[in-house]
Amino acid sequence: MKIHKFEEIWLVIGVAILVISMAITGYQAFAQGMAPPSHKETIDPEKVEETAPFDNPGVYEVGNNKYEVVMTLQAFAFEPSEITVPKGAEVTFIMTSKDVIHGVNVPHTNLNTMVVPGQIQRITQTFNESEEFIMICNEYCGTGHQMMSANIKVEE
Ligand code: CUA
Repeated sequence: MKIHKFEEIWLVIGVAILVISMAITGYQAFAQGMAPPSHKETIDPEKVEETAPFDNPGVYEVGNNKYEVVMTLQAFAFEPSEITVPKGAEVTFIMTSKDVIHGVNVPHTNLNTMVVPGQIQRITQTFNESEEFIMICNEYCGTGHQMMSANIKVEE
């Protein structure tokens, strides 16, 4: 069987583009450190309850209109599960998982992230409407997954 000349040329060009793209991406990721940001904050998932700040989950006022929610996740609960913050405040959620991978999503906001055991996840959100939001787990984590939720009350 004879490959048509043009087909052969395009095949070579196609493979060449693939190889060059992989080389460029690999070079940028490893040699230039341009890989997606990796999780730098780690924690021993077995010792979450003994490790600050997760030994004291809760809502903390940390500055002028700034709040931190220190939160632990486990099948099938968020702790704390009742969160109250003022409207317009900058709220940083500092989260880790005690067991498996969970997802965190607050519908109608941009708050959406994964929480992986052994890693500390931070995500900041400002709630501009005084209403109640529900925080749900959006990563299947077991039989009680669909019951895993918390309430966020945004006060005037
Ligand atoms: Cu936690 Cu699904």
